[in-house]
Amino acid sequence: MVQKDQAELCPATRPRRFYDYTLNEKLLYSSFLLLVGVGYLMALAYLYTSFDGIDGKLGLSVEDIAENYYGNRSGTRLESALRGSMAANIDLQQRHHIIAWLKSGAPRNGYESTIKPILAERCVACHAPASGLPIPDLSSYEGVKRVADVDTGVSLHSLMKVSHIHLFGIALVAFGIGLVFRFALLPAWFQYTLTLLPFIAIFSDIFAWFLTRWDPVYAYTVVAAGALLGLSWVLQITISLYQIWFLRCRVVPEEQP
Ligand code: HEC
Repeated sequence: MVQKDQAELCPATRPRRFYDYTLNEKLLYSSFLLLVGVGYLMALAYLYTSFDGIDGKLGLSVEDIAENYYGNRSGTRLESALRGSMAANIDLQQRHHIIAWLKSGAPRNGYESTIKPILAERCVACHAPASGLPIPDLSSYEGVKRVADVDTGVSLHSLMKVSHIHLFGIALVAFGIGLVFRFALLPAWFQYTLTLLPFIAIFSDIFAWFLTRWDPVYAYTVVAAGALLGLSWVLQITISLYQIWFLRCRVVPEEQP
C-alpha cells in the first residue's frame, strides 16, 4: 500500500501535436522554419563561393576542403608559380637556384646573396608595389617569404575561432528547429533519431575540421557530416511545415452511456 501512495498519479494526457496550437503559434513556427531554411540555403551558397576553386579547379570539391584545412604541403606558391604560370619568365639555371633555396627553408642570407638579384632581374618589373598589380610583392624578403612558406592550411587559432562560433550558432538554430519539430506526429524511433541527428552531425563536422588539418582524408567526413545536417534539417522543416498546416485530428465520437 505504501508504494501506491508514493507513486504520483500521471495525468492521462496525450502529447501535444501541431493541431493543438493556435493560428498565431502556427504562424510563428512556420515563419521561423521558413526563414531558417532560407538562411541555410544562403549558408550553402556562401560555402560554395568561398571554397570553390581553392585547388585551382572549378567547382567545390573534397579537394578544396582538404586543401583549406590541410594546405597544399607538396610545395610553396612560389615553387608552383616557377614551375607553372611564371615558368616563361625565368631560365632553368635560375629556377634551379630558387627552388634549392626554397627547399633549404628560404633563409634570409641566401636571399640576399643569390635570390634577390634573380628576382630583381626577372620578376620585380611586375612584382613590386610600384606596378600597382594585385600580385605578390617580390621586391623584399618579407614579400617573398609570404609565397615561400609551405602552405599548411588554416591555422589552429582561426580554426578554434570559427569552431566555437559555429558550435554556438548552429546549436541554437538546431535547438529552435528541434523545439518546433518535437510536436510532429511520427513513429517514436524516427522522431528521436531525427531530433538527435543535427547535433551529432554538427559535432562530427566540426571535429572533422580538426582531423582534416591533421590528415586530408577526413575531408570526406566533413562532407558526409555536412550532408547529414542538411538532410536532417530538410526533413525536420518539411515534416513540421506539412503537419502544421495539413495534419488534422479525427474527433473520436463519444460513447453513449
Ligand atoms: C610580365 C609581368 C610578370 C613577370 C615578369 C612575372 N610575373 Fe609573376 N605574376 C604576374 C601576374 C599578372 C600574376 C597574377 C596572375 C597569375 O597568377 O598568373 C602573377 C602571379 C605570380 C605568383 C602568384 C601565383 C599564385 O599562387 O597566385 C607568383 C608566386 C609569381 N607570379 C612569381 C613570379 C616570379 C618568381 C617571377 C620571376 C621569375 C614572376 N612572377 C615574373 C606577372 C608577372
